[in-house]
Amino acid sequence: MTHNAIENYPELQSQMAEWPSFLDKALTPTALIGKRIVVTGAGDGIGKALAKSLACFGADVILLGRTRTKLEAVFDWIKQHTPTDPVIVPCDLAQLDTDTVSALAESISSHYGNLQGLVHCASMLGPKIPLVHYPADQWQTVMQTNVNAVFMLNQGLFDLLDQGDPGCVLHVSSSVGIQGRAYWGAYSASKFALEGLSQILADETETAGKIRVYSVNPGGTRTAMRREAYPLEDPQTLPIPEKHMGLFLFLLVGSLVPDLIKRPLPATGAQIDARKWLA
Ligand SMILES: NC(=O)c1ccc[n+]([C@@H]2O[C@H](COP(=O)([O-])OP(=O)(O)OC[C@H]3O[C@@H](n4cnc5c(N)ncnc54)[C@H](OP(=O)(O)O)[C@@H]3O)[C@@H](O)[C@H]2O)c1
Repeated sequence: MTHNAIENYPELQSQMAEWPSFLDKALTPTALIGKRIVVTGAGDGIGKALAKSLACFGADVILLGRTRTKLEAVFDWIKQHTPTDPVIVPCDLAQLDTDTVSALAESISSHYGNLQGLVHCASMLGPKIPLVHYPADQWQTVMQTNVNAVFMLNQGLFDLLDQGDPGCVLHVSSSVGIQGRAYWGAYSASKFALEGLSQILADETETAGKIRVYSVNPGGTRTAMRREAYPLEDPQTLPIPEKHMGLFLFLLVGSLVPDLIKRPLPATGAQIDARKWLA
């Protein structure tokens, strides 16, 4: 496949050789034209890779994140290399409230008219210390960012997602959201809660059949958060965020443009381990 944007994204291009052929055939530069997708944590790591990748395949991406300069860098790359229409939404999810979510929904509605995807990549690690020493204020901040903000965004953007087109909500989770681990404190508890949110929303939307909901565990990935969690680890031993883009694109393109992907999607509500997807 030739594509200007992808030619300017060598980290993604290097991973595409490993994609199954059904995906490579489906993913033309126009695959996601007219699809609007919110990506939280879009300024760095997995969210940044996903925002750029979605734009490479035609989606208009709403780039939500904490640090304006990081979001602007992603915005500039997308504008330079793709014909899509991104917007940036600087937002500290630790401070998110329902009024802010309503204002976001209104601005998405007036700018784009609708929304098809919502991907929750943003999260914070918090301290890695025993529960008995865990500071209550940091517990609250991690839970607010990793769980409460996800609940508020899913709730406040739901009507926009539920306007008739197929939709998709992805929750980026973690192994410590499936099996608790000492010293992972609020981060681990927040990912258990995120798995619950994902399954509940999937169950509540399954009968209508328009919105698919998944949790995705990327496993160890070369990002700032991983460095914070494992400062002594050699980052070169870890996959880059773009390694996971085949899976994210499979789930999003498969959900939003079902005719393009000639492969059944996992059932809505599934917990997906990115490391097993291509195995
Ligand atoms: N990397 C791994 O090994 C790994 C493993 C399992 C699961 N995960 C999950 O993968 C997802 C992406 O993480 P990553 O590894 O890509 O980490 P990352 O590079 O550190 O990115 C995290 C993103 O979340 C944003 N963020 C953090 N707190 C925020 C807040 N209060 N408000 C708004 N945005 C906030 C950050 O914004 P700023 O940069 O502006 O602070 C950043 O863009 C997370 O949900 C993480 O739990 C990662």
